[in-house]
Amino acid sequence: MTPIQQCIRKKDISSKPIWLMRQAGRYLSEFREIRKSNTNFINLCLNSNLSSEITLQPIKRFDLDAAIIFSDILMIPYGLGQEVVFKKGIGPILGELNIENILNTEPKDFIKKLLPVYKGIEKVKNKLSGKNLIGFVGAPWTLLLYMINKKSPKNNFDFNKINKDKILTNKLLKKIEDMICLHIDKQIEAGADTIQIFDSWAGLLPVKELPIYCYIPILKIVEHVKSKKIPTICFPKGIGDSYVDFCNTVKPDCISIDYDIDPLWIKEKVNGIPIQGGLDPKILLQEKEIIKKNSEKYLNIFKDHPYIFNLGHGVLPEIKPETIEYVIKIVREKK
Ligand code: CP3
Repeated sequence: MTPIQQCIRKKDISSKPIWLMRQAGRYLSEFREIRKSNTNFINLCLNSNLSSEITLQPIKRFDLDAAIIFSDILMIPYGLGQEVVFKKGIGPILGELNIENILNTEPKDFIKKLLPVYKGIEKVKNKLSGKNLIGFVGAPWTLLLYMINKKSPKNNFDFNKINKDKILTNKLLKKIEDMICLHIDKQIEAGADTIQIFDSWAGLLPVKELPIYCYIPILKIVEHVKSKKIPTICFPKGIGDSYVDFCNTVKPDCISIDYDIDPLWIKEKVNGIPIQGGLDPKILLQEKEIIKKNSEKYLNIFKDHPYIFNLGHGVLPEIKPETIEYVIKIVREKK
């Protein structure tokens, strides 16, 4: 059994596995090297030789407990025929939303477009032993938001825009849910043994809308994955106190917390559900003593609770690889 299985399945508190969101990415020179000659990000995700190589880059460099497949949550809109491009310094930009085309996308055509993602997973699986291979999806709400808003909602979010045509929104949401389940099934078939669900923009939802757009859609997906005997890790970023309602409703196998969540508070609220993450990635830009103090804070609080060490969001491009090495050492040496 891998350390992450021990933690999630057996609720083992004796070892604290570690992996990091965005552990493959721009902070690694070997990633930047590949990226330089592969300017189209979607095509890079669809190159199974390169996606598997990038997935393994942090595994070769560091003593991590899991690999996460190098892909993106926006591969689902891409698979549904919506154009997705990544603009340097801006982020993702999505094309026109052709609802008719999206609703009519056949599962077999969706799978065909994303086949290289699954091939990439198979390639990684063949080279990985004793470690977990994490597959992932964006949650329905976060994908719906990107698809309607067509770019990051960071500075221009308007809930009414999403909620304008409820019937249409519901149809779209249902299609997204179906494709998420399909995408998960194919990742599991290819070798993914754990599934993380990223609801990166859950925090933008008004609290009264959380059940409709966040909890219930994710619950459906979690139940689907549970039926396959594969554990889920849920990351409803930014929902604050509602993490408790989320856990009570969705009952994920593991809950990933963001940097705004008080770790001591959440530990007492989750009824023993294994917890992952929390440490603010910005801490890793500070001096060693501060990094040590903050990492140990999480390790101390979760001493008596099943806990996967991770961050409260992804590794930032400015973080030095030596810092990642330092954090891993702190986690490994902590008694
Ligand atoms: O974690 C990993 O190492 C696996 C790969 C992974 C990527 N994206 C690769 C990536 C994962 C798990 C994701 C998830 C993802 N993608 C999320 C959910 C997690 C989160 O960050 O909240 C979201 C919202 C996206 C959408 C997305 N992809 C954005 C907003 C951006 C641009 C901003 C940024 O961080 O660069 C991306 C691009 C992206 N996805 C990069 C990587 C390595 C950077 C690509 C580059 O410029 O080289």
